[in-house]
Order: sequence, then structure tokens, then C-alpha cells
Amino acid sequence: MKAEVIHQYGGPEVLKYEDFPNPDLHPDDVLVKVYASGVNPVDWKVRKGGSKFEEFVPRILGWDFSGVVERAGANAGNWKKGDEVYGRPDITRNGTYAEYVAVRGNEIARKPKSIDHKATSGVALAGLTAWQGLFTHGQLQPEQRVLIHGASGGVGIFAVQFAKWKGAYVIGTASGKNIEFLEELGVDEVIDYETENFAVKLSDIDLVLDTRGGKVQADSVKVLKPGGTLVSTVGIQIADALKEKGIRGASFMAQSIPADLDEITRLIDSGAVIPVVSKIFPLKEAAAAHRFSEEGHVRGKIVLQVVEDGAARTGAGRAL
Ligand SMILES: NC(=O)c1ccc[n+]([C@@H]2O[C@H](COP(=O)([O-])OP(=O)(O)OC[C@H]3O[C@@H](n4cnc5c(N)ncnc54)[C@H](OP(=O)(O)O)[C@@H]3O)[C@@H](O)[C@H]2O)c1
Repeated sequence: MKAEVIHQYGGPEVLKYEDFPNPDLHPDDVLVKVYASGVNPVDWKVRKGGSKFEEFVPRILGWDFSGVVERAGANAGNWKKGDEVYGRPDITRNGTYAEYVAVRGNEIARKPKSIDHKATSGVALAGLTAWQGLFTHGQLQPEQRVLIHGASGGVGIFAVQFAKWKGAYVIGTASGKNIEFLEELGVDEVIDYETENFAVKLSDIDLVLDTRGGKVQADSVKVLKPGGTLVSTVGIQIADALKEKGIRGASFMAQSIPADLDEITRLIDSGAVIPVVSKIFPLKEAAAAHRFSEEGHVRGKIVLQVVEDGAARTGAGRAL
């Protein structure tokens, strides 16, 4: 099969488009023909080397896909050839920048029907992170005030829509160019981090979803209520300050839970949640996709298209 492969860890130039052996199928795996693969910051964090996910080379990156089941292993569950599925495969295995991926049958879900493979391929990793950050770890309740940092990014666009669906009052941070976009997504209050200081402007926040760390995380303590919660996708760096103010801190790694994916699928197909893809690259341009992602200002998702599957459909009529 064709794949984007790394033979060493390093800059975007280590990504090579080449022939690679088809994946070995374990009994609990399904073999999926990948139609599109999401690109996420973890991909280039692994590519650079030195991360906890540094494993073997040669290696295929990418852990976010939408595709069609080609074959199911004996213990892979009820999947059959032709099922349209999506998911976030195990990060310690070869990934989804490829024509085929082997993924455990208990890590995937049925693809939303209302959107195409390109839009779906950016949903699982960021969507699971937003879902579990807000609900599993953040315990977000209706009418609570939630602050979402990086609201226009991959995780952010799902988080703001999930939080609105839950009935929360949603505040998001982004740069000025994303204010209108976030208002369209339903955010109640947008803070332009380039011209406003959220730590001065806000108070009485029940939950912060931190996707930034550093000063953003440290300042978030100032706006949280005592008894509030700070959930971070990038690790908690200020445990003492949280303890002092009586704030619960949680950092987590999103898990591939099919029941969570099923909820997300339902929200997408009902029109309550719209995936946003800002750029599609062909598979062989993975290095360019990484350069774009590493700039840190992507709106929504970047995806790699592996198979041409017709006109774009991203649900609720939103154009790509
Ligand atoms: N723990 C986990 O399981 C997990 C899962 C997923 C992601 N993550 C991590 O979470 C982080 C976010 O992931 P992502 O996919 O959402 O990244 P992303 O899509 O690359 O985020 C880009 C967004 O960040 C915004 N941004 C940049 N600087 C900002 C600032 N100072 N304040 C507020 N927003 C800012 C940008 O908005 P502007 O263009 O307006 O600047 C842009 O829309 C990454 O570090 C990723 O590795 C962890």
C-alpha cells in the first residue's frame, strides 16, 4: 500500500510517501480501507521525537480516520466488509496516513451518515478529547459557565458545540480573526487573546478546558470559582496553586470509547454539532499539512485525503 512513512524522528521532511507492507491483522482487529485521515498536533509531536509515544521506525503516523471495513478478524466484534467506520486507533501502533490501517474492533464506531469521510476523519481524536474533557473529567452541568481556551482549534470547535448542546454558558478564547466564526458556532462570549486579558475580564467560572498550558493555565486559576475544575489536555503544571484555591485539576489522555463516539455521531447527524475542516491535503502532502498544523493557528481540522469520495458534505449545509 501507499503510506506516509517516517524512518527517523525529526522535521516534516522525514515524512516520505512510499510503498509500505499492508498491516498485519490481529484477531481482534478490523482492516480498514482509509478514505481520509485527520491531522492532529500529537502527530508532529511524535514525529519530532522525544515524546512518550516514540516507538519503532519505520513508522506510519496519524491516529484519526474515516474509512470502510475491508476485513474483520475472528474476535473483532460484529464488523463486516463494507461497514463505514471511524475512530482513533492505538497511538503505539502504525497509524492512518496510509491506504489501510489495522485497528481494534472495540475502538471504532459507525461513521455519521450526514457527512463525508473527509469531514469524519477529523472527528474522533478531537471529538473524544472535547467530550471526555467536558463531561467525563469536567462533569459539566447545564447552566454552568465554561471557559474553553483555543476555542477555534481542533478540540475547541467540538468543545464549544458540545458545551452549548449541554446547556452551558460558553466563553471561548481565540485571536480576533476567529471571533465571528466562534459566534456562528454558538459561543456566548469570545475573548480575543491578542487584545483582551481573560484573567481580568472573567470571574466565577465553573470549568476551564485548557488546551494551551503555561501562562494560560496559570491565569485560569484566577477566574475559576473555589470548587471549580480545571481540565487540561496538555498536563497540569500548577497543582499547588489549584490546591490553594480549592480547585480540582485533571489532565487526561483521550480514550477510544465507542459509546462516546456513538454520542458524537448522533449529535452530528442531528445537526447539533458541525465538524469544521479548514484545509484538505492529498496524502502525499503530509509534510505540508504538518507545517501548517505546527504554526498553531488552524481553524477546526486539517485532513489528508486518501480516496476521492465526491463532493464535500460536512453536515447542516456548511461548506468546507
Ligand atoms: N490529552 C489528549 O488526549 C489530547 C488530545 C487532543 C489534543 N491534545 C493537545 O491539545 C492541544 C490542542 O489541540 P488542538 O487539536 O485543538 O490544536 P490546534 O487545532 O492546533 O489548535 C489551534 C488553535 O489554537 C488557537 N490558539 C493559538 N494560540 C492561542 C492562545 N494563546 N489562546 C487561545 N487560543 C490560541 C488558535 O486560534 P487562533 O488562530 O485564533 O490563534 C487555533 O484555532 C495540543 O497541544 C494537543 O496536542 C491533547
